[in-house]
Amino acid sequence: EKGGFDHFMLKEIHEQPKAYHDTMLGRISEDGRSVVLPELKISAEKLRGINRVHIVACGTAYHAGLVGKSIIENLVRIPVETDVASEYRYRSPIITPDTLVIVVSQSGETADTLAALREAQRNGAHVLAITNVVGSSVAREADDVIITLAGPEIAVASTKAYSSQLIAFYLFGLYWAQTNGTQDEATVANILAAMQALPEQVEKILAQAEVIKGVAESISKHDSLFFIGRGLDYAVAMEGSLKLKEISYIHSEAYPAGELKHGTLALIEEGIPVIALITQEGLYEKTLSNIKEVKARGADVLGIINEGHEAEVAKSTDRQFAIPRTLPLLTPALSVVPLQLLSYYASLALGHDVDKPRNLAKSVTVE
Ligand code: M6R
Repeated sequence: EKGGFDHFMLKEIHEQPKAYHDTMLGRISEDGRSVVLPELKISAEKLRGINRVHIVACGTAYHAGLVGKSIIENLVRIPVETDVASEYRYRSPIITPDTLVIVVSQSGETADTLAALREAQRNGAHVLAITNVVGSSVAREADDVIITLAGPEIAVASTKAYSSQLIAFYLFGLYWAQTNGTQDEATVANILAAMQALPEQVEKILAQAEVIKGVAESISKHDSLFFIGRGLDYAVAMEGSLKLKEISYIHSEAYPAGELKHGTLALIEEGIPVIALITQEGLYEKTLSNIKEVKARGADVLGIINEGHEAEVAKSTDRQFAIPRTLPLLTPALSVVPLQLLSYYASLALGHDVDKPRNLAKSVTVE
C-alpha cells in the first residue's frame, strides 16, 4: 500500500509530479495557450463583476491560500485577503454579493472551513471550493468546485494536497485573467508552458533528496530554528515551518526576512539553523542582505536558491539547495518540496511516527 516507500508521507511527496500532471490534465487547451475549466458554473459576467476575494482555510490549506492571494492579485489585480477559517467568522468580514469566497480544504470536511463557507453564502457571496475529495461536504455545498487530482492523502502531514492546491490556484488565476482580459495571451501561454515543466522539475528535486537528508539530521539536534524569506518565499517558509513542527516536534518560526531586525534578530545566536528561501528574483538583493545579517551573527544557513545563483549565495550560506529555474510566481510549487523532505527526514532521525504525529488528526471535524 505504501508502494515501496517506508511511509505514506514519503510516497505522497514522490507522487507530486503525477499530482501536478493530473490536476492540469484536460484543463489546458490543446494549443497550450489558455485554461479551460468547464466545471465552473460562474458566468463570465459574474466573474467580471467580482471586486474582492476572500480565501479561507486552515493549516496547510491556509498556506496554499497565501500563495493563492499573490497569484490572483498578480494575474487579475483584484484585492484578496486570506484568512484562517477559525478567525474569519469572528471578525465581521465585509462580504457582499460581489465577493468571491474561495475555501480550500484537502478533506473538504474541516469544520471551521465548512462554517466559513456557510457564513459566506448567508451573506450572498459566491463560494468556490478547492478540494481534493469529490462528494465531501465542502464540495457539495459550494457554488463552484475545482477538484485537485492529488489522489488520496493518508499521511497527517499534507504534502501533495498543498502543492496541487497551488496548481488549482494557478489555473483559476489564469482562467480569471483570460476572462477579465488582465493578461495577454502570450503571457498566459508562457505561464502555462512553465507550469507544464513543473512535474519534471519536481523529479529533479526529488533525485537530490540525500542533500536534504544530511541537513535534516543536523537540524534534528536543535530545539529551535527559523525559516526566512520575502514575498512568496515567506508564504512557503510558513508552510515549511508548520510541516517541521507537526512531525518532528522541533520548534520553528517563519519570519519575513526583512522583519528580523525589528526584534527577532535578537534570537539569532551561534549555530542556530536558519532555512533561507531566496527564489524571488525581484527580491534577491534584499533577501541576500538579510541572509548576511543572520550569517554575521553565527547562524548555520541552508539557502533554498535558484539554479545559477550557487556561486554568489555560497559566500553567505553554509549549505545550499538549488531548485530548477521557473517563473517567480511558480517557485512555491518547487521550493516547498525540499522543505517537505526536510521535515520528513528530521522526524525520521528523531524516531517519531511520521505519518501519525501526536495530538493530530487527518481531518479536523470539530470547531
Ligand atoms: O483537510 P483540510 O485541508 O481542510 O485540512 C486543513 C488542516 O487541518 C491541514 O492542512 C493540517 O494543517 C495538516 N495536517 C498540515 O500538514
